[in-house]
Amino acid sequence: MNERELINNDLPEHIGIIMDGNGRWAKQRNLPRSEGHKKGVQSVKKIVEATIKLNINYLTLYAFSTENQFRPKLEVSLLLDLLVTFLTNHLDDLKKQNIRLTTIGRTNELPKNVQYTLNKAINDSKENTGLNLCLALNYSSRTEVVDAVQLIIKTISYTKKPLANFEWNDFANYLYTKDYPDPDLIIRTSGEKRISNFMLLQSAYAEYFFSDKTWPEFMEDDLYVAVEEYQKRERRYGKVIEKTTQDHPELSKITL
Ligand code: FPP
Repeated sequence: MNERELINNDLPEHIGIIMDGNGRWAKQRNLPRSEGHKKGVQSVKKIVEATIKLNINYLTLYAFSTENQFRPKLEVSLLLDLLVTFLTNHLDDLKKQNIRLTTIGRTNELPKNVQYTLNKAINDSKENTGLNLCLALNYSSRTEVVDAVQLIIKTISYTKKPLANFEWNDFANYLYTKDYPDPDLIIRTSGEKRISNFMLLQSAYAEYFFSDKTWPEFMEDDLYVAVEEYQKRERRYGKVIEKTTQDHPELSKITL
């Protein structure tokens, strides 16, 4: 598929991806899980490039969930090492590609060397004006809500004022994602049809696309297929889309 055909239509402003299936990709090939994660990094590069080609503004990648830290120590350290190597080796590319890197999640609990590399990449890319690439690291929606509530309690105890007329938009200002638009399209690879604690509140009206391919197999064309499918969906946000009498000829007979 040609990305140019997609650009002329309604594009998602924000895509979120649950990158799943690295382990299965490796197992199917009798390789250690680590090889699946390494191959997964190559998919990250390809999909970031494809997202830029499509002129998508925001891409959030679920790279390390809060629950992932309970995997075997060796796997956790390999995943974090891959992240550090990726960011260190591609810092210049982030600049060249005009990518602004950000993160969501409790990154302050990650090892110090990971925090250092992340902070450097975030700082060095903060003036970039192209794709906003957000890595969800040590992230889960539930901890995000807990952190938001803690912050609200702190704010109230500091200002000594109750938060008046507190609505969803006010709450959203305390989430990690306060500076991002809600995701329009969420993709999950590897055939699993779960959300796994990813942007649960932000995806209230997102469209979902589930691919049977594992993350290491997920290529540019697969992203284009997902976007094409998104473009065919009718987003109603819980409302009724007004139809003309051409769609409903019976209405033309009703005199109001
Ligand atoms: C899920 O596969 C994938 C992950 C837990 C990590 C994703 C990480 C990467 C692609 C590499 C590092 C990321 C960046 C941004 C450089 P799984 O291990 O759960 O697969 P399985 O369900 O088949 O076991």
